[in-house]
Amino acid sequence: MSIKNKKIKLPSGDYMPLVGFGTWLVKGRESTLKTLDMALEAGYRLFDTAAMYNNEGDIGDALKELLPRHNLSRKDIFITTKLYPEDHGKADKAIESSLKKLDCDYIDLYLIHWPGTYGKSEHAKMRSKSWEQMVECVKKGFVRNIGVSNYTVRHLKELLNNDFGIRPAVNQVEWHPFCHQKDLYDFCQKEGILLQAYQSLGGAGNRDLLENENIKNIAKKLGKTPAQVLLRWAVQQNVAIIPKSKTKEYIFSNCELDFTIPEEDMKTLFSFKQTKYDWDPNTIP
Ligand SMILES: NC(=O)c1ccc[n+]([C@@H]2O[C@H](COP(=O)([O-])OP(=O)(O)OC[C@H]3O[C@@H](n4cnc5c(N)ncnc54)[C@H](OP(=O)(O)O)[C@@H]3O)[C@@H](O)[C@H]2O)c1
Repeated sequence: MSIKNKKIKLPSGDYMPLVGFGTWLVKGRESTLKTLDMALEAGYRLFDTAAMYNNEGDIGDALKELLPRHNLSRKDIFITTKLYPEDHGKADKAIESSLKKLDCDYIDLYLIHWPGTYGKSEHAKMRSKSWEQMVECVKKGFVRNIGVSNYTVRHLKELLNNDFGIRPAVNQVEWHPFCHQKDLYDFCQKEGILLQAYQSLGGAGNRDLLENENIKNIAKKLGKTPAQVLLRWAVQQNVAIIPKSKTKEYIFSNCELDFTIPEEDMKTLFSFKQTKYDWDPNTIP
């Protein structure tokens, strides 16, 4: 089976595509329609958004128009959205708002975007409250699966130690050869939490990974693009991916990952000095 059709079974029994499509900076009615049209044509079936991206409405509108055009229905796609950090403690209201904007009856995966809150202190108390509200939303059928994003091992242990009835299915984190957080990977493997990578290509406007000489050499040797090497590196470890692009050529090539990176090149990809491009959640108590 092609990697772009591969699905991972979540604890709820639902299946989540390993390869999805990121939508940070995909905005505006026409641009979203055009981008998602290309993504559906290329074969992506998972769309990752967030209240923070301010595009749930555009995505809802685009999918409504595009699904019939692609002979698809709601059940054929997987929608992820996330709790805005300021909305900790009112996740039920936030889910209601996301459902309205996405114009659908349920969300496939709802994530706590960030373990901290804005402008409040009691981070641990607030994220616990959010989780309890998310569990209630699963029971009511508004959300099928729940998970977290930017959680460190410490935040995950805290969540697992409180028996809320539902464990996190996914942890979406910054994950690429310059930031591969081995302790987090091992912990998630042990606990059955699926890791989903963001910024696999380094993020918007960052060419450090795509223009790294070692990565370019591996790509040249394998006859692939540097982006394909970076994405294959993740899925080869069973880490899910959500690359974002508005460029037709990239949208299509980023999900063609049916090749193997040889062991010696995997070693090179694991050998880089570790850094982070995004916020550091270790700073959140
Ligand atoms: N949970 C979180 O806190 C969090 C944080 C960040 C991101 N995310 C999610 O993860 C998704 C992916 O992360 P991201 O969008 O920040 O970064 P990314 O996917 O690593 O990179 C996107 C950038 O790479 C360019 N690009 C895409 N394919 C390319 C290719 N084959 N060759 C060269 N350049 C290429 C895109 O340009 P063009 O668009 O111009 O083609 C865009 O500027 C987001 O869209 C979002 O859904 C989550």
